[in-house]
Amino acid sequence: MNASSQKYKIAVTQRMPEPIRERILRDFDARLDVSSAAQEQMGSWIQYCDGVDAILCTPADRMSAADIAALSSSVRVISTFSVGYDHIDVRAATAHGILVTNTPGVVTDATADIALLLLLGAARRATEGQALARSGAWRGWNPTQLLGNDLTERVLGIVGMGRIGQAVAKRAISFGMHVHYLSGSDRPKSLPFPARQHCTENTFWSACEFLSLHLPSTPENYHFLNAQRLSQMPCGSILVNTSRGEIVDDDAVIAALHGGRLAAVGLDVYPDEPRIPAGYLALPNAFLLPHLGSATHGTRLAMGVRALDNIDAVLRGDVPQDCVNEPA
Ligand code: DGY
Repeated sequence: MNASSQKYKIAVTQRMPEPIRERILRDFDARLDVSSAAQEQMGSWIQYCDGVDAILCTPADRMSAADIAALSSSVRVISTFSVGYDHIDVRAATAHGILVTNTPGVVTDATADIALLLLLGAARRATEGQALARSGAWRGWNPTQLLGNDLTERVLGIVGMGRIGQAVAKRAISFGMHVHYLSGSDRPKSLPFPARQHCTENTFWSACEFLSLHLPSTPENYHFLNAQRLSQMPCGSILVNTSRGEIVDDDAVIAALHGGRLAAVGLDVYPDEPRIPAGYLALPNAFLLPHLGSATHGTRLAMGVRALDNIDAVLRGDVPQDCVNEPA
């Protein structure tokens, strides 16, 4: 609760988990679910932010430079209910003196779990298995049915050995995989598990029987996994992406699936969500999820707590725990 009797005003874009919604209603003068309201009116949710002190948004709510320029000067903080903040034009927010915060750390385990689900689902042909099990056409066990790939003793290449990359590595090692990672740093990371560093790409791609991507979506990382890098991976390798769709060139990946360079993919993220490229939908060796990386009860609660704690800190005049910019 604010010290003054006047509550701060907040616009919340999406429906929040119930305890988070209750805390918002207790502590703020709130405009809730403004994104759905705006969609019904076929308008922009930004119009619902007039006069608010804080905005609580999600990766589904894009905030362009023009959106940010249209905000009233009352807005002091944009808190995103996510680790990724590529949906917000942070530079524009900084220029308008608005702090942007995110929720790192609390999504690590849930996202790493989904990466393993994708790894297994892609390797063991889960899309085809599900379809067969539900079709009524299954005629029973046979020795050659839906044979997939082993994880044991295979190399998993990780690009982006941060919190989530490391959590994926630990899980993969417990499945008997060998972890390799790409990092140009000449000071190898001190990792609490065995992993082989590749300082350059020369040796990395050809080692990756499996590949898991953990990069943020930045202009530099746009289409990081492209045809040229894919062509250096072993034939029949498997790709998993739980970070952001923009870091993968989907046309190149779909061509690699058709050509056999990739045996399968497991994807949780896409560049233009909720649209999933049609080329994947047509392929049985694409194991696809609708951006479920952080979707557990506990994780979504922790994200909401963290996002609101960041807003509270800014509105009290403190430095928030998770600030991604430094307005002058
Ligand atoms: C994040 O936190 O950025 C995730 O993509 C949300 O699941």
